[in-house]
Amino acid sequence: MKIRTGIIVTGENFFVRQHLVDKVWDSIESENHILLVAPRRVGKTSLMHYLMDKAKDNYFFLFIDTESVNNENEFYRKLLSRLLTSKFVKSKNKVFSFVKEHSPVIKSIGPNGVEFDSKKETDYFSEFLKIAKLLDLEDKKLVLLLDEFSQTVENIKNDESERNAIHFLQTNRELRQALSGKIQFIYSGSIGLENIVRQINASSTINDIVPLKVKPFNKQESRDFILLLLKNVDFKLNDKLLDTILDKVGWLIPFYLQLVIQAINDVWKEENLTKLSEVIIDNALTELVEQGNYFEHWHSRLRTSLKTIEYKFAKELLNAISGTETIHSNEIHDLAVGFGLESDYKDIVRSLVYDGYINNNDDIRTYRFNSPILKMWWWKYVAN
Ligand SMILES: Nc1ncnc2c1ncn2[C@@H]1O[C@H](COP(=O)(O)OP(=O)(O)O)[C@@H](O)[C@H]1O
Ligand SMILES: [Mg+2]
Repeated sequence: MKIRTGIIVTGENFFVRQHLVDKVWDSIESENHILLVAPRRVGKTSLMHYLMDKAKDNYFFLFIDTESVNNENEFYRKLLSRLLTSKFVKSKNKVFSFVKEHSPVIKSIGPNGVEFDSKKETDYFSEFLKIAKLLDLEDKKLVLLLDEFSQTVENIKNDESERNAIHFLQTNRELRQALSGKIQFIYSGSIGLENIVRQINASSTINDIVPLKVKPFNKQESRDFILLLLKNVDFKLNDKLLDTILDKVGWLIPFYLQLVIQAINDVWKEENLTKLSEVIIDNALTELVEQGNYFEHWHSRLRTSLKTIEYKFAKELLNAISGTETIHSNEIHDLAVGFGLESDYKDIVRSLVYDGYINNNDDIRTYRFNSPILKMWWWKYVAN
């Protein structure tokens, strides 16, 4: 297994957590629509690709990343285009004569996508629905993997309006109902869809979707994973140092484990080392944090998603935790009062938990960073 940081992992480089894969399949086979929930970088996109690459016989999957989409019509045009260019659909339907008959807005279907007639005003939702209903999937079921769907909802809310975001959620629901039994949807979101939807009073639009958490690795999975990664590095680790690494990483997402093993290997090579120690692991972590660019999105995300005053509060809160390790909910309240946010701050704290910055797992009133590495980075690059 090769160290891969930052890009989606597939094939041999994907560490399979069978219990998680089984859980998703159970849910698919129960005909659920699913929301894969986890903060950025936990492994949602890679999991989606694994499901697609190892699809059971009577299913086929289409993957669509909608992170940059910011209006409803564009979203459905993208879905339609993906559907009509998929190998499976093309092989089972004489697609061109089919769309000629049913969809006059489509001019051509080429290897690079579908060309739509730009002169015609088109409602792509209706177009997609019509075609999806008519398509012959034989006895197969189609699963649409819609990556970063919650970002799409947020984009529409921010770039257009709350009303349009609600409308978008409603048409998605309509689609699920109208295509029930034929097409299933698996959405993913790095940011809390439930939070976004609650804020715009639209929870009922997603109550037919089953949320499924993609959790960080547990200790045993992390050990097994690291042992596989070690096959492609120059150094060796004894069990004690392996567990030292796990303690220092704290939040055991595969991305961080890979970054750390990579960083140790870099130090190992640069310094021509022959023996590993805890000090060397610490040096590698410091190097990793100093490279900085792996973590900046945790900061920029707050700046773009929150209003100015909320951003200031969130930043102040994370600054405080990064300096002291933990913060008590009373202190959070006092901080919020200082920003005039006493009625809203709980939502902000909730989204920081949901989005993977902090947790109160040990004690409901005490918050800490999920990841000591992110904490270190935050302290150095944001707080000071
Ligand atoms: N199952 C896995 N096996 C190996 N590496 C993984 C796995 N899941 C995630 N990763 C690592 O984490 C990074 C982020 O994964 P990705 O699937 O893009 O997460 P997300 O979509 O949740 O942001 C990948 O580049 C890869 O380094
Ligand atoms: Mg992703």
